Amino acid sequence: MVILGYLWVLALPYDGLWKGTYIDEHSLQPAQVTMYWDWPNVHKADQFLERLEELVRSNSTFDERSAYLIQAFSEAGLSAGNTTSAVYASVMPPRSAGTETILISANWVSRDGGPNLRGVATLLAMGDFLRGQNHWAFNFVLVIGDSYLTGLSSFLASYHTLFPGVIWTGLNIDYPGHSFSHLGVFYEGLNGRLPNQDVPNTIAHVGKWAGGVEMRLHDVPEEAPEWVRSIPGREDVRGMVERYVVGARHLWTHAGYMALGRASGAHGVMAKYRIDSSTLYCTPASGPHGFHTLGRTLESTLRSLNNLLERLHASYFFYLLPSPGHFIPVGNYLPSSILLGASVVIGGLACPQPPSPAGMLYLLLSMGIGGLAWIAQTPLVSILAFLLPRPEGRARETVRCLAHIGYGAMIPTLAMLNYPQSLLLATVTIAYLVPYRSVRLVALAAHPALVQWALPGLRAEWEVLGNAFWPGVFAVWVPLWVIAVII
Ligand SMILES: *[C@@H]1O[C@H](CO)[C@@H](O)[C@H](O)[C@H]1NC(C)=O
Ligand SMILES: *[C@@H]1O[C@H](CO)[C@@H](O)[C@H](O)[C@H]1NC(C)=O
Repeated sequence: MVILGYLWVLALPYDGLWKGTYIDEHSLQPAQVTMYWDWPNVHKADQFLERLEELVRSNSTFDERSAYLIQAFSEAGLSAGNTTSAVYASVMPPRSAGTETILISANWVSRDGGPNLRGVATLLAMGDFLRGQNHWAFNFVLVIGDSYLTGLSSFLASYHTLFPGVIWTGLNIDYPGHSFSHLGVFYEGLNGRLPNQDVPNTIAHVGKWAGGVEMRLHDVPEEAPEWVRSIPGREDVRGMVERYVVGARHLWTHAGYMALGRASGAHGVMAKYRIDSSTLYCTPASGPHGFHTLGRTLESTLRSLNNLLERLHASYFFYLLPSPGHFIPVGNYLPSSILLGASVVIGGLACPQPPSPAGMLYLLLSMGIGGLAWIAQTPLVSILAFLLPRPEGRARETVRCLAHIGYGAMIPTLAMLNYPQSLLLATVTIAYLVPYRSVRLVALAAHPALVQWALPGLRAEWEVLGNAFWPGVFAVWVPLWVIAVII
C-alpha cells in the first residue's frame, strides 16, 4: 500500500493524469479588451526608474524613499501615505462604488534579494495611468512594502484602519532585471493557501495573448534539460519523457513552497486575508521584453479582474499545476495521500482493549515534551525521550496503535488542504513508525532539529508572517519523534 501510494505520487508528472486549464468564471473574459498602455506610459516608467536608481545609489533610508514615493504618487494626482514600513496610494475611479478593491503591490526588495526597481517604477507609472481612466469599477490600492514580505504584510494588517473597501484580488510585480525573457506566475501563498485557479489561468492567458510574452510557472523553463533531450530512441517516447521531466520539475518547485507553508512571492502574504493573488515575475534576461509588455499584461489582467461581480468561486482552490496550460484535479492526486494514510492506520489496527492508562500517559508525555520544546523554542528538547523508561506490553501496544491511527488519519485530512505537506508528514510518519526498531533508529536521525538548522528563517516566518510550519514542528513532529524513540 505504501509502495502503491508512492507510485501514484510518481505518476503525477505523467500527462495522462492532467487536464487542460480553462477559465471558469465567464465574466473574466481574458485578453478581450483594447489596451491603452503604450509608449508614453513606458516613458514615464523610465523617468521614475531614474529617480529610484539614484535613491539606491545614495543608500537612501526608508524616510527618503517614502518621501520620494509619496511625492511621485501625489504628482500623478493620487492620494498617498505611509505606514512605518510601506508606502501606499489609492485610485478611486469615478464609476467605482468604493466597496471592492484590487490591490497592486511592488515591494522594494525582489524575491531574488536585490532591489525591485523596475517593479516599483511600473507600479508608479501604473498609478498615473489608472487615474486617467474612467472604465474601472474597482478601487485600486497600490503598495510598496519596504522589504520583501514584511512591509506588505504589516500594511495589510493595518489596511482596515486606512481604507473601507474589501480587497478581492491582488497582483504583485517583481521585476528585478533590466529586461526579461519570460513572465513567471508565482501563486503559492502562506500556509499552503492557493488563489482560485482562475487567477493564474487568467494571467497566463493574458500574458500570452495580450502581452505577447512566453509564460512560465515560477521560473522553471518549459524545455527539458539537455540530458533528457539527448536520449536516443523514438521521437514520441522521448517527447513523453521530456513532458514528464518538465512536469516533475514544476511539481517539485511547487512542493518546495507548499510543504514548508512558504509564500513563493510577496502575493503570498495576501493569501492570509483571502485575497486571490499571484506574483508576476519578470525572468531577468537581455531581452526582448520590458515595461511595454509588462504594462500591457497588467492592464489587461486588471481589466479582467475589473469585470468580476462577485468573489472568484467558480474554479478550483485545490490543484496542482504541472505545466502552464494544465492542471491536476484534486481527485487525481488525493488518492495517493489516502493510500499512504490508510497504510499507517492499518499498521495500528491491533489495539489492546481497553487501552492501557499507562499508554495514554505516555502519549500525553510526548505532547508535553512537544510543549516544553516549544517553550524552549528548540526541537532538541525531544532528546529527553531517551530518559523515559520504555513502556512494556499493553502500554507499548497502546502507544503504538494510537500513534498509528492518529497520524494515519492526519495525513489525508492535511492532504485536502495542503497536499505536498501531507506527503512530507506521510514520509516522516512511515519512516518513524516502521516496525523494525533498528531501521527506526536510523530514521530517527532525521530529527526535527535539522529543520531548524537547515532553515533558520522558519521561526521568524512564524513570528512575523504567521507561517504555521514552525509551531507544527512542535505540535506534530516532535511528539512523533518521542513516540518513535520509546516504542
Ligand atoms: C553606500 O554604501 C556602500 C557600501 O556600504 C558604500 O561603498 C558607498 O560609498 C555608499 N554610498 C554613498 C553615496 O554613501
Ligand atoms: C510615515 O513615515 C515616517 C518616516 O518616514 C514615520 O515617522 C511615520 O510614523 C510614518 N507614518 C505612519 C502613519 O506610520
